[in-house]
Amino acid sequence: MYILGIETSCDETAAAIIKTSPKDPYVQLVSNVLATSLVLHAKTGGIIPEIAAREQLKYIIPVIDESFQKASMEPKDIDAIAVTVGPGLIGSLLVGVESAKTLAFVLKKPIIPVNHLYGHMYANFIQDGKKEAIAFPSLSLIVSGGHTDLAIIKDHGNIQWIGGTRDDAAGEAFDKIGRLLDMPYPAGPHIEKSAKRGEPKRFIFPRPMIGTDDFDFSFSGLKTAVLRETQKLKTIDKQTKYDLAAATQEAIVDVLVSKTLKAAKKFSVSSILLSGGVAANQTLQKKLRLRLTVQKHKASLFVPPNYFCTDNGAMIAAAGYYNYEPVRFDKVTANPQLYFD
Ligand code: KG4
Ligand code: ZN
Repeated sequence: MYILGIETSCDETAAAIIKTSPKDPYVQLVSNVLATSLVLHAKTGGIIPEIAAREQLKYIIPVIDESFQKASMEPKDIDAIAVTVGPGLIGSLLVGVESAKTLAFVLKKPIIPVNHLYGHMYANFIQDGKKEAIAFPSLSLIVSGGHTDLAIIKDHGNIQWIGGTRDDAAGEAFDKIGRLLDMPYPAGPHIEKSAKRGEPKRFIFPRPMIGTDDFDFSFSGLKTAVLRETQKLKTIDKQTKYDLAAATQEAIVDVLVSKTLKAAKKFSVSSILLSGGVAANQTLQKKLRLRLTVQKHKASLFVPPNYFCTDNGAMIAAAGYYNYEPVRFDKVTANPQLYFD
């Protein structure tokens, strides 16, 4: 099968074509196109929904066109269309959903509504040189700008949410704290870069909910703790900024790693799948890998390459393939509040 995936839930406008075959443990990428309005948001320190949607309206048709050109395919050659229906910004979601519905109607192709969160998980099922197949049950940690969730994938189509953030998402914490430190949006990569030169033990920030019995998270208190620390300091020189970045990263990573390992143990999973923008963080990947080795846990860790950690069309096409439930095109609607079932 060839599946076109369309993603417009936040500031990206993305389309990709994947090729699938029943014997292949992964989907193959045929083309992958992405346009982003991130530079416009970097200036304002965050995403302005109307600006994002207006840009996506401009990009959507050229981006879909290019995904066919790069694949050397005609629209009639695809077998299905997968589209993100939520969660996300309503104006942005509508651009992708209405485009996908129109294509499905004109081409008479099945359309698969996809939960963006499932999309992130399934970024791990795109072939990128992986040799080992992903064994179930699998633990999925989704860490993005909007979400921090832990879920168990018992099998394709059988996914159980076990916990999530009660306030800010991990990426949101990076972004808000980065803003306090005068870093551009999105601040995650800037904090990671600064942290490399910092001393993580100079400031000790709280690890909210690290010891609780559940699999929930809370990151809003961390931002307050960093704010208080910056208010106490008379001036913030370069080294202090690096040290604050290192301590922030250490606190967020510690909580994510602890809760993930606790869930991996409790549910005896065979694999752990990281996904979402924050999964690109090297310290998170390294610490998780190290703790898995130290604890002699048998689960294999999978992390998508950076360009599949952040939003893209290929992960939506992959999620659509493994959770293939087409619906009538006129029944597909955007749902900004969509979460786990
Ligand atoms: O998955 P994503 O592209 O968009 C959402 O669906 O939210 O994630 C974006 C988030 C931002 O909050 C950004 O600061 C964070 O991922 N991020 C990182 C890194 N790269 C991106 N956070 C920490 N370290 C990174 N290297
Ligand atoms: Zn996302």
